[in-house]
Amino acid sequence: MNITSETKLYGLIGYPAKHSISPQIHNSAFKILNINAVYLTFEVKKEFLKKALDGVRALGIKGLNVTIPHKVNVIKYIDELSREAALIGAVNTILNDDEKLIGFNTDYTGILKTFEVYNVNLIGKKIVLLGAGGAAKAIAFAIAEKSSSLTILNRTKRKALNLAGELNKKLKVNVSANSLTSESLKNSLKDADILVNATSVGMAPNINQTLVTKEFLRKDMIVLDVVYNPLETKLLKEAKEAEAKCINGVEMLIQQAAEAFKIWFKIEPPINEMRTIALKSLTGGKSN
Ligand code: ATR
Repeated sequence: MNITSETKLYGLIGYPAKHSISPQIHNSAFKILNINAVYLTFEVKKEFLKKALDGVRALGIKGLNVTIPHKVNVIKYIDELSREAALIGAVNTILNDDEKLIGFNTDYTGILKTFEVYNVNLIGKKIVLLGAGGAAKAIAFAIAEKSSSLTILNRTKRKALNLAGELNKKLKVNVSANSLTSESLKNSLKDADILVNATSVGMAPNINQTLVTKEFLRKDMIVLDVVYNPLETKLLKEAKEAEAKCINGVEMLIQQAAEAFKIWFKIEPPINEMRTIALKSLTGGKSN
């Protein structure tokens, strides 16, 4: 890497942030396209968020990704929001446009692109979403704008009801919500076309956990797990055994990164190479 006085800085703010593979993904894209830029991670504590954003303006950092726990709070410190970021109330990408910080939500576009890549048309499909946390929220908004049949199931029922209430109010849709129990899973999955796990269940180190038992998984079902570590979660392994169509979390990770890249550089990113790097990083191979 040839760092010069012209090198532009991009990065990720979160806490924690060190586990992220976004640096490998973006730095490899910079290298492939010969872009004089570098992408770093910054672990920013909650109490320093405002100062960090002031620093972005002051230092001329060109763009940021934003992750847990800052996706909602960061809105207070930026100047403008995209339609999706305003709708969802969360930002995962910031563009520094001559000191004006503009917030976007590429998790929203990322999930839609993921379904597109796998040739899944959401229109008319019955979809069950597990989870009502930060990750689930962007996914729920994206899906609810496409499909008229969405059910949200969450361990904490109140959060599922709140999210469904927000979707119904803002999008004028009819999303239903319930607590996540074997009874509610059975009822909602019996005729579901698509199941999306947007909880952290199954993520390393708890790789033997799944919220959905085998009996609910069918051949004519599409199962997407947003967890990408491990690449094949217990849910996806069992879905594969049931001959369901499986989509792992890497595609969504890559698609949201690609959308952020497009916002920053206004050009198409080398998405195939970005995917290869992500897969290598996640399977312990050398990333670059
Ligand atoms: P993120 O931003 O990654 O979505 P989050 O906002 O903390 O993180 O949300 C985590 C999601 O995983 C929530 O839906 C959570 O359920 P609760 O709302 O009941 O906490 C869900 N989750 C985490 N661990 C779980 C478990 N062991 N069983 C069921 N759901 C779980």
